Amino acid sequence: MYRFVFSQVLSRLDPEDAHHMAVRALRVLSVTPVVRRLVHRRLAPRDPALRVQAFGVHFSGPFGLAAGFDKDAGCVEAVSALGFGHVEVGTITAHAQPGNARPRMFRLVRNRAIINRMGFNNAGASAAARSLARPRGVPAIVGVNIGKTKVVPESGAVADYVASARELAPLADYLVVNVSSPNTPGLRDLQAVELLGPLLRAVKEVADATPKRTPLLVKIAPDLADADVDAVADLALDLGLDGIIATNTTIGRQALAEAEPAGRDHGHESGGLSGRPLKARSLEVLRRLRARVGDRLVLVSVGGVEDVDDVWERLLAGATLVQGYSALIYEGPLWAYRVNRDLSRRLRRHGVVDLRQIIGRTASRSTAT
Ligand SMILES: Cc1cc2nc3c(=O)[nH]c(=O)nc-3n(C[C@H](O)[C@H](O)[C@H](O)COP(=O)(O)O)c2cc1C
Repeated sequence: MYRFVFSQVLSRLDPEDAHHMAVRALRVLSVTPVVRRLVHRRLAPRDPALRVQAFGVHFSGPFGLAAGFDKDAGCVEAVSALGFGHVEVGTITAHAQPGNARPRMFRLVRNRAIINRMGFNNAGASAAARSLARPRGVPAIVGVNIGKTKVVPESGAVADYVASARELAPLADYLVVNVSSPNTPGLRDLQAVELLGPLLRAVKEVADATPKRTPLLVKIAPDLADADVDAVADLALDLGLDGIIATNTTIGRQALAEAEPAGRDHGHESGGLSGRPLKARSLEVLRRLRARVGDRLVLVSVGGVEDVDDVWERLLAGATLVQGYSALIYEGPLWAYRVNRDLSRRLRRHGVVDLRQIIGRTASRSTAT
C-alpha cells in the first residue's frame, strides 16, 4: 500500500515537503490521545525478548529512529507509538537557525538513498526544551542530539555545545554530541582528538551534573580514517563516555551502485549521503569499534539499515542499539513495526529469550590496531 502511495504520490512531491507533511501528521497523532494510544497498542514492541538495557536505560526494543527526522522534538510520542524503541531528536543547536537554502534534500530512489544538506535547521535549544518538558501520553525514550550553531566560530564551539547541554541534558534519556554532519562548515574537524577531548569533557561535566546523570555519546562520520575511528574510541574510553553512534552520512559517492533515471539523478548534489550505499562502511566502522572497545562502551549502529537482516547483522556485530532514517522514506510508517515483528520471529526461531545472548556474537575478539 505505502509502496503504491510512494511511487504514485510521494515520489512526485519535493522530499522536504513530503517530510514536513509526515511530521505534521505525526504531530497531530502525538496530540490525539485516543488514536495515539490505539496506534501504540497495535504497533509498539511488546515482546519481552526485544527488551534491552543500555547505559542504565530500558528500551522496549533495540531499533530506534535516527537523528534528523524529528529535529525539534515535535512528534516523539507518535514516532514511539509507531514502534521505534527510541527517538533521537535533533540535531538541536543553542540558537535557532534556518539551515541551508532549499532544495537541500534529494531522493536517489534506485539506490534507496538520500542526499541532504539541511544544515541543522531547527528552532533552537530553548524551544526543544519546552517540547521535551511536556508530559507524554505514551512511553518514549528520547535521545537528544546537539550540534554547533553555524554562526559560532570554532573558538566558541565548546561554549555553544555546553549551552545546549545545560538546557537539554536534564530532559534527555541520553545526550549525543554530533561532530559528524557534513553540512556545517568545520564541524567535522571537531572529531580530531585535540579538539574533541576538551569538547566532550566540558559537555560531560554538564551531563554528569543532572539529577539522574545523563548518559553521553558521540556520533561519528563514516569518512574518518580507520586510525581516527580508533583514536575517537580510545578517547571515549578515557573520558568515560557511555557510547558511540556510528555513523552519520558520508560525503563519498563511490558506493552509489545504481544509475538513477535521467533528470532525477541527484548523485552530484553536495551534502551527506545516507541509506543503502552507506550500509557496508557503517558495518565496517561498527566492527572496528567493537574490536577496539569490546563491551566497555555501548555501540549504536546506524547507516543503511533497511530490514531485520540488517538489524540482526548489527546486533551480532556488537551494536546494542540500531537506528535508521532513510529507509523510513521508502518503507513508510509501518517500517519499525515490521522490523520488530520480524526480529521477534527470528529470536524465537533461534531460541533467544534475551538480546544479550546475541549482541556481539560475531564480533572479532582481537583488538584492531
Ligand atoms: C534528511 C536527513 C537529515 C539528517 N539530519 C541529521 C541531523 O540533524 N543530525 C544527525 O546527527 N544526523 C542526521 N542525519 C543522519 C542520520 O541520523 C543517520 O546517521 C544517517 O542518515 C544514516 O542512517 P540511514 O542510512 O538509516 O539514513 C540526517 C539524515 C537525513 C537523511
